[in-house]
Parts: sequence; structure tokens; C-alpha cells
Amino acid sequence: MQEHGVLKRVLLIYQECIRRQSIGQELPVSAVHDGAEIIHDFIEGFHEALEEGFVFPKLRSAGKLVGTVDTLLLQHARGRQLTQLILAESAAQTATVNDSAQIVGAMTAFVRMYQPHEAREDTVVFPTFRSILTSEQLSHLGTNFADLQREQFGPNALNQTVAKVAAIEETLGIYDLSQFTPEPITQ
Ligand SMILES: [Fe+2]
Ligand SMILES: [Fe+2]
Repeated sequence: MQEHGVLKRVLLIYQECIRRQSIGQELPVSAVHDGAEIIHDFIEGFHEALEEGFVFPKLRSAGKLVGTVDTLLLQHARGRQLTQLILAESAAQTATVNDSAQIVGAMTAFVRMYQPHEAREDTVVFPTFRSILTSEQLSHLGTNFADLQREQFGPNALNQTVAKVAAIEETLGIYDLSQFTPEPITQ
């Protein structure tokens, strides 16, 4: 489930776009649109489809985390609505003030929901899922997921998607990791 890293990086892209708008800069509409397309195709169209097709039903039939799964499913649905709105409003190269406000509102809601969503999946949902499968079932499922990814996106899906994310980060000036290192604390 390496897709969560891609999701996290698009959340960081959204946060940078939100930050710029909050300090009176123009919203980088094409970065928003490109990020939302990755969410639409790779996260909603692939990653969440696997969660909904394999992970959640298995947990539900084992009677595990049933309430959490209900919430996660509802959040997938609400996330798709937000993504549709973001894609539609960012389709033009420039956005009006009203469009920008709507896009930023949707991105803010999306980031707020998906940070706890993916953290819960990583720390509770996936470990519980793994605990109810045998190691053979797990390894079979891993192969199955890799095959599905190859069928849907071709042989280098993850690398290509990460490259697209990096290109958006470059345009926003947030690609270089070293810029986020704080200065040393001096006494
Ligand atoms: Fe999910
Ligand atoms: Fe997920």
C-alpha cells in the first residue's frame, strides 16, 4: 500500500496552494488540477477501490473495526465529491475569486479528512487486516494488487505517478527536501 505516500504528497501540494491563497497570492490553479487528477485516478480509482473491494469486506466479515470501516467508506464518498468539485472549478487555467474560495474550501476539507483517515488506516486498519490473514493469503493478495495495478496503469505505475507528483512540487518550489530542515538551535 505505497499509495498512501502519494496521497500524503498531494495533501502537501494542496496545503501549499491553500497557504499561498491565504497570504493573498494567486491560487496555482493548474497545480491544484494536476494534483486532483492524481487523487482521482490513482487514489480514488485504484487505492480506494482495493480497500473497498478487499480490505473492508474482509474486516467486516471478520467482525473487526466495523464502525471504523463505515466511517472510512463514508469518507471515501465525501472525498470523491470534494475531488469532483476541485476538478470542475480548477478546469480553467485561471480561477475567479469565487472559484478560488470554493477550491480552497474543498481542499481544506479534503486535507483535514485525509490526514486522520490515512493515519488510522496505516496504524490500525491495515495491521488488523494483516492479522486476520495467513502469510500465504497475504502474499497472494500482494501479488494480486500488483497485477491489478499493472493492468490498470501499466508496468511503472507508482514511479510514473511519483514523477508526476514531483513535477507539481517543482512548479510550486516545494520539491527540494532540504528547505524543510530547521536551522540548528544555538544556546
Ligand atoms: Fe481509505
Ligand atoms: Fe487508504
